Amino acid sequence: MTGDEATNGELDADESVVRRDRFSGGPARDFLSSLAADARIFAADIAVDRAHVVMLAECDVVDDATAGAILAALEEIETAGHDALPDGEDVHEAIETAVVDRVGPDGGRMHTARSRNDEVATCIRYRLREDVFDAIEATLALREVLAEIAEAHAETIMPGYTHLQPAQPTTVAQWALSYESTVARDTARLFDALGRLDASPLGAAAFAGTPFEIDRERTAELLGFSSVLSNATDAVASRDVLLETTGALSTLATTLSGFAEDLIVFANRGFVDLDDDYASTSSIMPQKKNPDTLELVRAVAGDAAASVQGLTTTLKGLPRAYNRDLQRATPHVWATVDAVTQATEVAAGAVATADWNEDSLAGAAGEGFSTATGVADLLAMAGVPFRTAHEIVAEAATAAEVDDGSIREALADAAEAHLEESLEEFVDAEALDAALDPASNVASRDSAGGPAPDAVRDQLAAVGSSIEADRETHADRVCVVESAAERRLEVVSTYV
Ligand code: ARG
Repeated sequence: MTGDEATNGELDADESVVRRDRFSGGPARDFLSSLAADARIFAADIAVDRAHVVMLAECDVVDDATAGAILAALEEIETAGHDALPDGEDVHEAIETAVVDRVGPDGGRMHTARSRNDEVATCIRYRLREDVFDAIEATLALREVLAEIAEAHAETIMPGYTHLQPAQPTTVAQWALSYESTVARDTARLFDALGRLDASPLGAAAFAGTPFEIDRERTAELLGFSSVLSNATDAVASRDVLLETTGALSTLATTLSGFAEDLIVFANRGFVDLDDDYASTSSIMPQKKNPDTLELVRAVAGDAAASVQGLTTTLKGLPRAYNRDLQRATPHVWATVDAVTQATEVAAGAVATADWNEDSLAGAAGEGFSTATGVADLLAMAGVPFRTAHEIVAEAATAAEVDDGSIREALADAAEAHLEESLEEFVDAEALDAALDPASNVASRDSAGGPAPDAVRDQLAAVGSSIEADRETHADRVCVVESAAERRLEVVSTYV
């Protein structure tokens, strides 16, 4: 017999204590207990208890006076806090003991028509929903910061890299919006996870339902869940949404790690100066200003990936319906949501307060003949097959010392050799100068999504509305949960 069956409200308080002692009082007590870790779901459990007791009263499973006494006890227990709970295998058992201590054996009626299995699954979803709200908020704030940077730096030319080699000149705005686009999908993935998280397992009982006439829709409503998990066995056994949420967070952390790495490289090259608040110094080398916060942001991706691995490994091969392994699955998601949300906030703060060194960015933008693609494009636009144009420019780049101006001669020679006509037949000197100039080279790339200031302004308009739409969705969802919490307390107060 499990602890759940022992506390099904039909035994008196002393008997249930005896049973618990028999089954979990031995040397493995600490190993079995999740009470300390359950501090995370203390408030959620109180909310779940309230919703359940109200529903039991509304369905005439417990009488109003008993419900009132239990709800009054829950209020006291909430005020006293998690640390004041009596000993127990977990927060569910400890809160129930605290209720019975205050109410007497009738307090045991709280656990009618439920199990710790549906209770814990509901608490996890309830709490994680709040945490995902915070994670989404952090992504929105980061996206806003990136949009502001793009707005301010639509014309700030910088080098763009592939393989960390100078590739083509671009702008700070284009760089910032590239991350905004990725983080926007991270937001979307979190919304997706939230959608599936936002369903109530409560009332599934141990896994196989209950003979009591309960109203699962009502508890879901009181807890602000938008739906009920229909299959009772799935409701208690599955943790796929934890994996999905951790996966979404791990993806976000991976995005952030590349973002942090870019800024670390930019700081190394003198392109950005991090604010002192986001830098550290060395305990021995007095001149050092190190991008430690960004290095830690970069590292969080490792923790998050480890959690995905840990969760997957724990969940793999678990038989239906409930197994205690699940207790060790949950902490992975708490650790991940905390670390990734914090990393998102720190990344936003670091980039929001960094100074972009426009001179060194502009100076480096043309390095390594990064305008070469623009020159090849120019030839191709004049009718030369792109592959031939590519060869001409490649040959000129190899022949010339690009930075001393000899590139024009080298281009003329290479064009002559390949086209049997002079370069001027295809491009005039002015157009060539423009292609070789990083700023006008950038300005010419005005295709949709390109870095030309005009194209960036179009991107910015779309980004602005997508952030606004996501903000609205987020606010609506938070509002549903907050008003459910208010309504729940109103209903509770009618009993107490
Ligand atoms: N502490 C447990 C957990 O986190 C709660 C459920 C215990 N249920 C049981 N049948 N032993 O999973």
